[in-house]
Amino acid sequence: MRDARRSLWRHPSRGGAWCPVTSVLERTSESLIHQPDPVDAPWWRSAVIYQIYPRSFADSNGDGVGDLPAVTDRLPYLTALGVDAIWLSPFYVSPMADAGYDVTDYRDIDPLFGTLADADAMIARAHELGLRVIVDLVPNHTSNHHVWFEAALAAAPGSPERERYVFRDGKGPDGSEPPNNWKSNFGGSAWQRVDDGQWYLHLFDYHQPDLNWQNPEVRAEFHDIIRYWLDRGVDGFRVDVAHGLVKREGLPDFNGVNHDFGPEGDRLPTNTSPFWDQDGVHEIYAGWRTILDEYTAADPTHERMMCAEAWVQPAERMALYVRDDEFQQAFNFPFLATHWYADALHDVIELSLRSNDSVGAPTTWVLSNHDVVRHASRLGLPQDLPRPNGIGAADPQPDEALGLRRARAATTLMLALPGGAYLYQGEELGLPDSTELPDEVRQDPTFRFTKGVELGRDGCRVPIPWVKDAPSFGFGPSAEAWLPQPAAYGAYAVDQQDGVPGSTLELYRTLLRIRRERRLGNGGMEWLTGFDDDAVVALVNVAGSGERTTVVANLGATPVELPAEAGSVLVASGPLTEEGRLPTDTTVWLG
Ligand code: GLC
Repeated sequence: MRDARRSLWRHPSRGGAWCPVTSVLERTSESLIHQPDPVDAPWWRSAVIYQIYPRSFADSNGDGVGDLPAVTDRLPYLTALGVDAIWLSPFYVSPMADAGYDVTDYRDIDPLFGTLADADAMIARAHELGLRVIVDLVPNHTSNHHVWFEAALAAAPGSPERERYVFRDGKGPDGSEPPNNWKSNFGGSAWQRVDDGQWYLHLFDYHQPDLNWQNPEVRAEFHDIIRYWLDRGVDGFRVDVAHGLVKREGLPDFNGVNHDFGPEGDRLPTNTSPFWDQDGVHEIYAGWRTILDEYTAADPTHERMMCAEAWVQPAERMALYVRDDEFQQAFNFPFLATHWYADALHDVIELSLRSNDSVGAPTTWVLSNHDVVRHASRLGLPQDLPRPNGIGAADPQPDEALGLRRARAATTLMLALPGGAYLYQGEELGLPDSTELPDEVRQDPTFRFTKGVELGRDGCRVPIPWVKDAPSFGFGPSAEAWLPQPAAYGAYAVDQQDGVPGSTLELYRTLLRIRRERRLGNGGMEWLTGFDDDAVVALVNVAGSGERTTVVANLGATPVELPAEAGSVLVASGPLTEEGRLPTDTTVWLG
């Protein structure tokens, strides 16, 4: 199947499974395909960053919505888990049209989540515990209740207030047609008409008007917001929709697919779209990097970083975001989007390392977040089908046991790879999506704007379970959480897994401990040959010290023999066979 692998950029038998690159990789054999980091590498090159979705992590005041004081209380749980940093999805003042990704005040906390004093306390406590804190920055759009947008609506067409956003006259004799044919990512037109007849652009919900990044005032405002949070002590930013800020001159029509990414679709380069991945975004990020570097220079023990949320392909274009004067990291969505196939995983791992190495950036790895079906559910679905955007009760259900088994194997593979890794709250419990949400509780705007055609992302946002026999499974003091938790979540609660050998929580703790001890995040990497490439992903993480950790993931139908010379089992995602072979959908670390 090597030939098939060489044509890896399209797997016709899999509906054209993922591949973003324009060139074809040759497979390597024993040689290192990625060099280890030097011993004094900055923290973010290898950090494991835990994503907290504040409304669903823990609730201290019983209103059914998570909050910052509860995050502070439970930080010791995260240090015991063994992560290096937390990233919090937005906690800013917001009408919550898109769960906080519609911000009215970038410098204050929404009362739902607490106060600025609560944020300060959380940052201070995290630092005391040795955890870094990354906050979400949402620069592509504000809320339509932001003072700037309210001023824009009150002002006349052509005014400086309107110039902070993207207002245009409509087409047609009376301007009643939108200025172009762009579609919102949440469904429907990307334009909304206002009372005086002009239209404004919103790539997401109409409650999220896009900012005009050609306007120096917008740029200056975000410089100020960045400084504001750095002054409050945060260690960096996760930057929302980092590929969307600049739109092509003239706003030409676009007849492609907005989100043409991952295993399905034609997968044209992202910048064929007039609103994604335009070259003009890079100077914005270079400006931000200068600010971060200024803070790092003032306190070198406290190195600041930023990570791009940029759904960009091919890999060569993605690498531009992590050049050494821009982002330190970008999310590796190609890895997340890869189906559970050994050859596809092999390819995406190699491509990720090579393309990031080409600009000297660390690769990151991620399997779940607040925008996608959790990997314990995703991997329990047939792998030759398109990925769902939400799973409902009427849809084919994931095989829960299979999904969990594969999720544990996938994570065990991921955490051995060199670079940084992102975990999404609850995945350390093996949590599946809720597939039981009734339509009336759904809150994701995608559901509304597509009239239910797409269920949206609520299924992965359900509050996580802490204690089986407690109201809202210990999420908070009240019985009701903002999204109902399925009864099955009780069995996944922290108290059911804490200290239980073989539990998913204990597996994550062990993986993170060994990863730290062996400096796997800073390791070099080579492929291990001698396995069936269609069934097995096998590699060696080679530390700077020369210490070798062999990693074998079996995605094939039959158990595989482990290489005796690789050492003994350090950790495995599931039990080996009686003969010591590695069963299907299991990953092992040997050393
Ligand atoms: C990003 C966020 C997502 C949000 C969107 C609009 O993709 O991760 O949750 O809906 O941006 O801000």
